[in-house]
Amino acid sequence: MPEKQTILVTGGTGFIGSHTCVELIEQGYDVVVLDNLVNSKVESLNRIERITGTRPRFYEVDILDREALERLFAEEPDISCVIHFAGLKAVGESCKKPWEYYHNNIAGSLELFDVMRAHGCKNLIFSSSATVYGDPEFVPITEECPKHTPTNPYGKTKTMLEDILVDLSAADAEWNIVLLRYFNPIGAHPSGLMGEDPNGIPNNLMPYITQVASGKLEELGVFGDDYDTPDGTGVRDYIHVMDLAVGHVKSIEFMAGKHGVNVFNLGTGIGYSVLDVVHAFESANGLTIPYRIKPRRAGDIACCYASAEKAERDMGWKAQYGIEEMCADSWRWQSMNPDGYGD
Ligand code: WQD
Repeated sequence: MPEKQTILVTGGTGFIGSHTCVELIEQGYDVVVLDNLVNSKVESLNRIERITGTRPRFYEVDILDREALERLFAEEPDISCVIHFAGLKAVGESCKKPWEYYHNNIAGSLELFDVMRAHGCKNLIFSSSATVYGDPEFVPITEECPKHTPTNPYGKTKTMLEDILVDLSAADAEWNIVLLRYFNPIGAHPSGLMGEDPNGIPNNLMPYITQVASGKLEELGVFGDDYDTPDGTGVRDYIHVMDLAVGHVKSIEFMAGKHGVNVFNLGTGIGYSVLDVVHAFESANGLTIPYRIKPRRAGDIACCYASAEKAERDMGWKAQYGIEEMCADSWRWQSMNPDGYGD
C-alpha cells in the first residue's frame, strides 16, 4: 500500500475547505487541518468524521502566528502539499476593513509560504477566485482572459497573492503552484451534514435564498433587473462545492512532479441569472421564494461565467452537478441545520 500523502488544509473548517477534506479522506489522503475559527466552527470537523469515519488532525492556528506555524510543521514533517483556503472573504466587509484584509490575507499568507519553504514544502494549491477577472473582457472566461483590478480589497488580496506566488516561482523553480479560480460555490454535501454557514445576514445569493426558504428571512432582494442579460438580473457560474472539492484532489494529482505555476478556472461553463436560480430552487424543492427587485448592489458586474475547458483537458476534471442538484443539496443542509453548525 503506497504511503498516504499528507495534505495540510488551511481554512479546513470552512465551507470549501471542509468539503475538500471529505473528498481528500475518501481518496486516501492523510489530512491535517489548520484554522483560527474566526469564521467557522469545530463542529465541521465532527461532521467530516461522521461522513468519512476519519477525523483530521486539527491545529487551531492563525496563519499570522509564525511560531505556531513552525510548531505545526515540526509536528507534521510529512506534509507534502498545502491547500491554502484560510483567509477573510466577505466582499462588503473588506471595503469597511481593508487593513484587516490585507494584514490577514497577505501578511498571513506570506508567513505561511515562508514556513513552508523553510520546511522544504513547495507544493501549494491556492484558493483564488474569478473576482481576479474583475468585469471580464469576454465570456466564457478563459484563464487567458486579462485580470482586472477587483473592485474591493478582498478581491485585490486574491490578485496580489496570485502575483506573489508567480514571483516566488520565478525566483525559485522548486515551487510547484496551482491557482484555482473558483466561480460561485454553492450547494452542500449530499448528506445534509455539512454546508455553508455564513455569519449574520448572508451576503451571497444561495444562503440568502435558503434562509428565506426556512423563514429566517422574509424575502429575497434581487439586486437589479436592468443588466444587459437575458432577464436583466446578474448572471453567474454556480458550481457545486463537491465539484470544487474534486477539483482540488485532481489538482494534487496533476501537479505531481511538476514545477512552476498552473492556473485553472473551476466553473461549470454555464451562466445562470438570479431569477434562474430562484426558479431552479423552487422547482428542485417544491417551495416558493418571495422576492422583490431592488436597486443594483455597488460593485456587482452583469455577467461572469467560466470556460472550464482547460481543467477538463489538463486535469480530467469537469463539474458533474447541475443547478437543481445544487439547489436541492443547499436546501437539505439548511433545513436539517436551521442554525448551521450552531454556536
Ligand atoms: C450572485 C448574484 C448578485 C445576493 C461573490 C464574491 C466572489 C465569491 C462569491 C468569495 C449577483 C445577486 C446576491 C442577494 C442578489 N466569494 N444577489 N441578492 O457577488 O457573484 O461573488 O461571492 O470567494 O469572490 O465576489 O456572489 O452570491 O453575492 O451574488 O440579487 O441577496 O446574486 O447581485 O448577481 P458574487 P453573490
